[in-house]
Amino acid sequence: MNNIKLLKQYFQWIIKAKDLHGVHSPFLYNFMKNCLYQDEIKPEFQRIEAVRKQLLNDRKNLSYTDHGAGNRIKSGNENANTPTTRSVAQIAKSSLKPPKTCRLFSRIPAYFDFQNVLEMGTSFGITSSYLACSKSNITIETIEGAPPIAQIARKTFSGLGLTNIKLREGLFDYVLPQLFRENPCFDMVYIDGDHKGESLLRYFNHIAKHIHDGSVVIVDDIRWSVSMHNAWLRIIAENEITLSVDLFDCGLLFFKKGLSKEHYAIKF
Ligand SMILES: C[S@@+](CC[C@H](N)C(=O)[O-])C[C@H]1O[C@@H](n2cnc3c(N)ncnc32)[C@H](O)[C@@H]1O
Repeated sequence: MNNIKLLKQYFQWIIKAKDLHGVHSPFLYNFMKNCLYQDEIKPEFQRIEAVRKQLLNDRKNLSYTDHGAGNRIKSGNENANTPTTRSVAQIAKSSLKPPKTCRLFSRIPAYFDFQNVLEMGTSFGITSSYLACSKSNITIETIEGAPPIAQIARKTFSGLGLTNIKLREGLFDYVLPQLFRENPCFDMVYIDGDHKGESLLRYFNHIAKHIHDGSVVIVDDIRWSVSMHNAWLRIIAENEITLSVDLFDCGLLFFKKGLSKEHYAIKF
């Protein structure tokens, strides 16, 4: 999305965005009070941040195919699968989620007592590591399509001694069917790769068959491009989604039966 559109989106969002006082749903109120706004820096997080710092200072070049950038400006014909060479530092700077967001994603499985999480788009494994430290007895499945990037993610996990992350290398479209045969139902899915609206819709439709009533789906970069934002708007209109939360950069989807369908912009 170009900067002018993004600024307009931001003003529209901030006018609607609520904090704890503007929310009526008890389910959402409790989630906000006890999870969204319960920030905490665990010692494990400091070790992950030390890895992020190393990545941000690593000038080594990686040659790989960028499967996921999409086109930030155009809404159609997004052709982003091009070979590219970028330094580890450049990739880390543009791809990794900020610590505050990583901490939130780590709190969600703990709050709902989830057992398994799927991350689509590993990059260097920073968010996967936060998810893996969420609670004991949690398993993280994560998928990365660029082999040189996946190799660095593996180093991240072994360096941090994280053994509860399974990294699958390959494109989502090829890896997902095999993954769902082995593990047909996920408590949480975090979609953070392939920033094209049509791809997001395709993945969402696939994932929707492999979650349950209490699952949470996080969609990242919902304002990356016009097509990503349109795809997000189409997804939140689906009947099976009973609560959707727009945090501006990313969106949370809840499927809990018994909630009356609602959508909120929430300050974070
Ligand atoms: C934004 S980064 C992920 C960042 C990571 N989730 C984090 O928070 O640290 C997106 C990653 O998804 C990968 N990706 C994009 N499209 C993909 C696809 N279709 N199949 C597999 N991997 C893909 C890219 O190679 C890139 O490393």
